[in-house]
Amino acid sequence: MAEIVLQQTPAPRAAVQRMRAYHPPLGNREGLRLDFNENTVACSPRVLEALGQVAAGDLAKYPERGQVEAKVAQHLGLDAEQVLLTNGVDEAIHVLCQTYLDRGDEFLFPTPTYSMYEVYGSCTDATVKTVPSGANFAFPLEGLLAAITPQTRLIAIASPNSPTGTVASRQQILQILHAAPQAVVLVDEAYYHFCGETVMDLVGQAPNLIVARTFSKAYGLAGLRLGMLAAPVGMQQWLRTVISPYSVNSLALVCLPAALDDDAYLQWYVEEVRAARAEMVKNLHALGVPQWPTQANFVLVKIGDRHAEFVRAMHRRGVLTRDRSNDQGCDGCVRLTVGTRAQMEQAMAAMGEALNEIGWMKA
Ligand SMILES: Cc1ncc(COP(=O)(O)O)c(C=O)c1O
Repeated sequence: MAEIVLQQTPAPRAAVQRMRAYHPPLGNREGLRLDFNENTVACSPRVLEALGQVAAGDLAKYPERGQVEAKVAQHLGLDAEQVLLTNGVDEAIHVLCQTYLDRGDEFLFPTPTYSMYEVYGSCTDATVKTVPSGANFAFPLEGLLAAITPQTRLIAIASPNSPTGTVASRQQILQILHAAPQAVVLVDEAYYHFCGETVMDLVGQAPNLIVARTFSKAYGLAGLRLGMLAAPVGMQQWLRTVISPYSVNSLALVCLPAALDDDAYLQWYVEEVRAARAEMVKNLHALGVPQWPTQANFVLVKIGDRHAEFVRAMHRRGVLTRDRSNDQGCDGCVRLTVGTRAQMEQAMAAMGEALNEIGWMKA
């Protein structure tokens, strides 16, 4: 057979060629990791015990998610048929886009917000439509209501939102649900535990509401890739048509029940973060660094022109932070994850030095 010499690799779909690349760091994250809003300590020790029970033969089987979905449903007061486990909320967003967005449809969300809405939305033939947040990054209710059209098929609301930490109130979410009965409204509650406000109780009552939760944040299971969608049964049948039946792996399914059973550990971590957040807000105020009120496990601060130098200066001191300057309305902003009180003392000490180093001045 003649040797094949490829002149050019085949081009991807036009929608993919138009996409902006999203490149989060995939390595070299040693130090105090305040860049990804993860649990900064660990998962529950019970999860490791559960992992220790895994036998070689268990890994030979395809994963069986049904019983674990039933357990999650019970934990949240839902019916088993209303819960879909996913490979992180990222997969949930992807599946929603694949299930609901056709050419001519609109995917609507406020900005700045979680990057993967744009990534997965742009990957379809639908139009991504964004509405800038209001002053102080408040949820842009009026703007969203005005942007809803008969073509709106999917709306994403992260509450608390990333990278801002602001929330959409229950009343505001209800107004969106009423204004767009033709659209699926995703309320992404990835940071629910640090805030406490939820619309999970409306799942099944509002026919167009889907709520996402992740186990990557408060539960400390980011490495296992576990998320979930709570949705009316009528939607679940379509989501299950699209999702890979084995996208949640066996180890994640072994670990999740153990994590759910250790409520004391979860409560400890959440309380610790809330206490650390309150102290950090006070300390940032004392330093004169502008910040936005946050209900999540992170704080967005305004460093100004020297934001990139600040991130590097923090890195040299062993603290990873996330430059959010490229996000809409976030020029000069850096996001810091909140961990334990001890970790935040370390971070604030590094911050004082880093601000000095870059010659930062109080406004
Ligand atoms: C608002 C929001 N949703 C979803 C995710 C992703 O969660 P997961 O790790 O479950 O994919 C993140 C991660 O940072 C997030 O900020």
